[in-house]
Amino acid sequence: MKKIDIIAGARPNFMKIGPVVHAIHRYNESATEQITYRLIHTGQHYDKKMSEDFFEQLNIPKPHINLGVGSGTQATQTANIMMRYEEAVKADKPELCLVVGDVTSTMACAIVAKKERVKVAHIEGGIRSGDENMPEEINRMVTDSITDFFFTTSNVANENLEALGHAEGKVFFVGNTMIDSLLGNLNRLQKPALVDENKLSEKSFLVMTLHRPSNVDGMESLRQLLEIINDNVGDKKVVFPMHPRTKKMYDQLGMNYDNLIITGPMSYLEFIYLIKNALGVITDSGGITEEATVLGIPCMTLRNSTERPETVTVGTNEIVGTNPENILPLLKKLIAGNWKKGGIPELWDGKTADRIVKIIGKL
Ligand code: UD1
Repeated sequence: MKKIDIIAGARPNFMKIGPVVHAIHRYNESATEQITYRLIHTGQHYDKKMSEDFFEQLNIPKPHINLGVGSGTQATQTANIMMRYEEAVKADKPELCLVVGDVTSTMACAIVAKKERVKVAHIEGGIRSGDENMPEEINRMVTDSITDFFFTTSNVANENLEALGHAEGKVFFVGNTMIDSLLGNLNRLQKPALVDENKLSEKSFLVMTLHRPSNVDGMESLRQLLEIINDNVGDKKVVFPMHPRTKKMYDQLGMNYDNLIITGPMSYLEFIYLIKNALGVITDSGGITEEATVLGIPCMTLRNSTERPETVTVGTNEIVGTNPENILPLLKKLIAGNWKKGGIPELWDGKTADRIVKIIGKL
């Protein structure tokens, strides 16, 4: 395939597509037939700190098209993305639509492409949490059901796809493009100002992120989580960069927590700096469990499931749930520095995007 659309819409997409764009440029330097691409930003995330800053820091070229859909309910976002991407496909039809991850933009563009008879390739295909309460799980199921070529991050994903009846020739186990970004930027990390402002030395702090609707959309669940963490970190501090969704509810709470250092969404190079220097990570994100695993940093996931089981079986992650009774013992272990050591999952080696582009060139 030589003419592709690359779709990105929300923050966790950008570090996954950046390496692919760079790998296409490398491929074209020696290829007899060039791969041309259109980078399409759906506009699902639009704040500078949730979007533009990532393009700048990761040297991703400006998108050719921004669909500018903005916020809304799941259905509104999906519908707007579909209507606007359909126009873009009708105006200039690609041979392949490359989607990544599990956000609303991923699913919406995959559906449009498939109906326009454009082949769909899914980076990070095949992963499943089994929890249909999360919109991402539905996005994964729908996207994978119409995907023509899967680029997978793990053997578990390969097995899931096999169980769903997807033929072996369609599934390519390539590794993790998010880890390409991580390893490729380790020597460019930037120390956030808050580190010196709060006199944070290495391993004297935790990093926390929470943005799942189940954790942050209810005032009581958010208050409980923040309270148990704030009250049980001893002399450690917790850096808490807040997603806009979380900030909305936090502002309504009107509480002050003296061990939490609250800040807005961080840039990529600053955020990875924090994780790399932290004693541990507390999160309800999936991607961050992968980054913590590769950096060997202890990680507690405040969810009841994960679609990335290798971060637990191989890596540093533990699934703790959201019940305060379960959180407390593990939090104590984390603070005491008494955590399991992890390894690196297979093929998470920083070379995944080159593998993907080589395969696309041959499809
Ligand atoms: C989305 C993804 C989630 C991912 C997360 C990372 C889906 C279903 N979910 O969730 O998988 O982990 O991104 O950030 O696609 N908002 C802003 N500025 C922005 C973007 C959003 O203020 O640039 C606010 C809006 O009030 C919006 C809310 O955040 O309503 C939620 O944004 P949305 O894109 O619906 O989902 P996320 O919770 O960000």
